[in-house]
Amino acid sequence: MIVRNDEELAKLQKIGRICAITLKEMMAATRAGMTTKELDELGGKILARYGAVSAPMAMYNFPGYTCISINEEIAHGIPGSRVIKQGDMVNIDVSAMLDGYYGDNGRSFLVGGGDKMGQRLIKASNEALANAITAAVAGKKLNSIGRAIENTAHRHGLKLIRNLCGHGVGHTLHDDPEMIDNYYDPSDKRILEEGMVIAIEPFISEKENMVVQNKQDGWTLYTPHGTRAAQCEHTVVVTKKRPIILTLAD
Ligand code: CO
Ligand code: CO
Repeated sequence: MIVRNDEELAKLQKIGRICAITLKEMMAATRAGMTTKELDELGGKILARYGAVSAPMAMYNFPGYTCISINEEIAHGIPGSRVIKQGDMVNIDVSAMLDGYYGDNGRSFLVGGGDKMGQRLIKASNEALANAITAAVAGKKLNSIGRAIENTAHRHGLKLIRNLCGHGVGHTLHDDPEMIDNYYDPSDKRILEEGMVIAIEPFISEKENMVVQNKQDGWTLYTPHGTRAAQCEHTVVVTKKRPIILTLAD
């Protein structure tokens, strides 16, 4: 969507903040020994506290309030009986709706410090998101985002998941513009417009560049060889200068 006035911006900021607080509190509560279902139920309670509704649940009948993906699971992990272990790379993705407006944010983190490669992936994904946000200026090409992400991954000697992408957000979870690639596509001629609301979400990967869907559960996206990737996501509003980040907890 394109933000047309201050009232719309205020509503987007409100749901953005709720998504960010939910993610932050869930990350802080994550412990080895708990199941992803327990963690998700906490997320559901936090959303309910603010009167917000889980977007994947409401829109796609997703079997959870949030997506929780561990290690070889890269995205759309279904909360369930999987027990979180020390050293796991956990990704929590929170998207929600309040008063007809949507926000979306996510983050990968390591439980209890983790390993060197895990730390490298997380650092690179944070950096890729920061660089992509800096590149998202009204009047520039939309593919500036993918270019910034791809350059960051390569500078770190890492790869990216090419079949997961960012997206427009606002009046729905997946709004216009659709498919904001995480790599540089020179044939993409779309231009970033002032007021455009987009979710930017690079997935920086250690080895593999594609995910496949678990056919049994119909949701979980995982790497066929079990290697990891870290995601970092914010919802932002494009302006002529720096984008406004909507998914901030404080
Ligand atoms: Co998300
Ligand atoms: Co998203």
